[in-house]
Amino acid sequence: MEILVAEKAGFCMGVERALNMVMLAVGEEKGPIYTYGPLIHNPQVVSYLESLGVQVAERIEDIPEGSRVVIRSHGIGPTELERMKERRLEIIDATCMFVKKAQRMASELYRDGYKVIILGHKDHPEVRALRDFVHDEVLIAGSLDELPTFDEPPEKLGVICQTTLNTEFFEQAVKRLEARVPNLVVRNTICDATAKRQQAARDIAEEVDAMIVVGGRHSSNTRRLTDICRDRGVDTYHIETPKELRKGWFLGRKRIGVTAGASTPDWMIEEVIRAVQDFGFQRREGKSVVSDDGKVKEEKMDAGGR
Ligand code: F3S
Repeated sequence: MEILVAEKAGFCMGVERALNMVMLAVGEEKGPIYTYGPLIHNPQVVSYLESLGVQVAERIEDIPEGSRVVIRSHGIGPTELERMKERRLEIIDATCMFVKKAQRMASELYRDGYKVIILGHKDHPEVRALRDFVHDEVLIAGSLDELPTFDEPPEKLGVICQTTLNTEFFEQAVKRLEARVPNLVVRNTICDATAKRQQAARDIAEEVDAMIVVGGRHSSNTRRLTDICRDRGVDTYHIETPKELRKGWFLGRKRIGVTAGASTPDWMIEEVIRAVQDFGFQRREGKSVVSDDGKVKEEKMDAGGR
């Protein structure tokens, strides 16, 4: 009985960078640090940061004037940035470069007279920020059913997407829009880390009897990985910690796949793998988890090898 771990899983470079920036700020000992919203959608990491004195503020007004504030990897829009400046906050900008690229492309489409459609989830902070870059004059679709049918298609339509969108949804949505709008410009702003994690999940979902997806309940990219595995017809369980694993999930299974969202730390993935090993599964040897810069993060070893 084997455990297969997705070749790309866990922290992406944008999340790692954001965490490093916060840790550096903690080390400076210049007073309290606030993150505008939880730094990442992973409650265990957020609790750890809280233990270091990093506080989560849901509203800019709740951050004392002059304090340090971290803009998380999802980014913010120009209106919120202005409000931060008005409060004289010292800004630590951890917006991921892929998100910045999507923001820039959205602004350019708007400037060039395109009606903009964002493929993504309307309540996700990244999408809310993107809306602000196009002055809220935007269409949003999070599923094929939500795509506009257009009695009268706009003269020019520009597509932007949430960086963590399901790549298959993106392709299907673009195909449908192409059939409805003559003048369509498509900016594929799905980030490299997302595309690679999704492909790695698809690859192992084909080979296993059940998938364990590790990551925060509110993590958009983790939920996409769960959807992708379920779409392949494999029994899929989304968990945050190993405590949620149930014996019944493993009965009669020969191969279990494990993957994790871009905001899931390696130590949590390792804890889950160890817990699955306790149900009698052995980690398959010879595979490696590869980080976004192409370096091998860790060698897969057999049970008990680490
Ligand atoms: Fe950035 Fe993609 Fe991670 S947008 S924060 S590299 S999931």
